[in-house]
Amino acid sequence: MAAVRYLVTGANGQLGRAMVDVARSRGDGVVGLGHAELAVEDADATRRAIAKHSPEVVVHCGAWTDVDGCERDPERANRVNGHGTANVAEACRAIGAKLVYVSTDFVFDGTAHTPYRVDAEPAPVSAYGRSKLLGEQAVLRDSEPGFVVVRTSWVFGPGGKNFPRAILSRARSGEPLRVVDDQVGSPTFTLDLAVALVDLAARPDVGGIFHASNDGSCSWHEFARCLVDAAGLEVEVGRMSSSELDRPAPRPSYSVLDCSRLTELRGRSLPDYHDAIRRYLELESP
Ligand SMILES: NC(=O)c1ccc[n+]([C@@H]2O[C@H](COP(=O)([O-])OP(=O)(O)OC[C@H]3O[C@@H](n4cnc5c(N)ncnc54)[C@H](OP(=O)(O)O)[C@@H]3O)[C@@H](O)[C@H]2O)c1
Repeated sequence: MAAVRYLVTGANGQLGRAMVDVARSRGDGVVGLGHAELAVEDADATRRAIAKHSPEVVVHCGAWTDVDGCERDPERANRVNGHGTANVAEACRAIGAKLVYVSTDFVFDGTAHTPYRVDAEPAPVSAYGRSKLLGEQAVLRDSEPGFVVVRTSWVFGPGGKNFPRAILSRARSGEPLRVVDDQVGSPTFTLDLAVALVDLAARPDVGGIFHASNDGSCSWHEFARCLVDAAGLEVEVGRMSSSELDRPAPRPSYSVLDCSRLTELRGRSLPDYHDAIRRYLELESP
């Protein structure tokens, strides 16, 4: 397959880094711009950066991902995740580039009991979710082929500030662990997701919404239990409820994504999350 020229925003984030690594390992050309090089809420800078590098595909991973921070400052959330994404979409349209926008399970309210399909009605319950939905609307505005929204969930990868890192560092330091058991979702390993994004980018004829997470689902408590067991640590993992944790932003209590549209397109699903945890630990173990 011919090499693709990518531009990745948020390239120092956990997914951005994986995206750059995966594209490079396939021999594709990739320009990764970290937050310091490109702040997407600056429309002129975004247009100039994308025109200068002239990529075939932009993978927009840059976002303000601090869910509780977004709840405290929803204007900033909308500026970065909503209008910033609109700036990226406009800049892509201006040069005829394709766009893969990474969005979130937090666009759903979490009241479902079966996996959310790509055509399920979004109803975000947090400022972060609303700001990401604003971004989706900007990307999907003209229903162009090659403009895709990829919703994912519970992202973790090497080098990231993420749930597995927090759990394992607590477990290794002997601190007691209590983890919420009333939110259910699907963990997603950055390196698996990046491969799926590259596969999608190879299909400029398709557009619209895709869901992408590792196979399987669990509560945060079960996720923590799997991590601790896979790392060979003998510690108790206690349970707690979301209301006990009392965070500023509400979270969906169920956000499993139905990934069948992506599975059909690629001919395979993302690997099971237990397998992803094992590979993550090989890369992250101290
Ligand atoms: N993490 C999850 O569980 C999760 C779940 C579902 C969807 N997602 C989505 O997946 C994508 C990647 O997330 P991630 O887990 O890789 O998050 P991450 O590690 O926080 O990476 C996001 C990157 O975006 C950068 N950024 C922040 N503000 C920016 C701006 N104004 N302009 C350009 N870049 C900016 C950040 O830089 P600084 O850190 O320097 O500010 C960071 O390097 C995001 O779109 C996120 O919404 C994440």
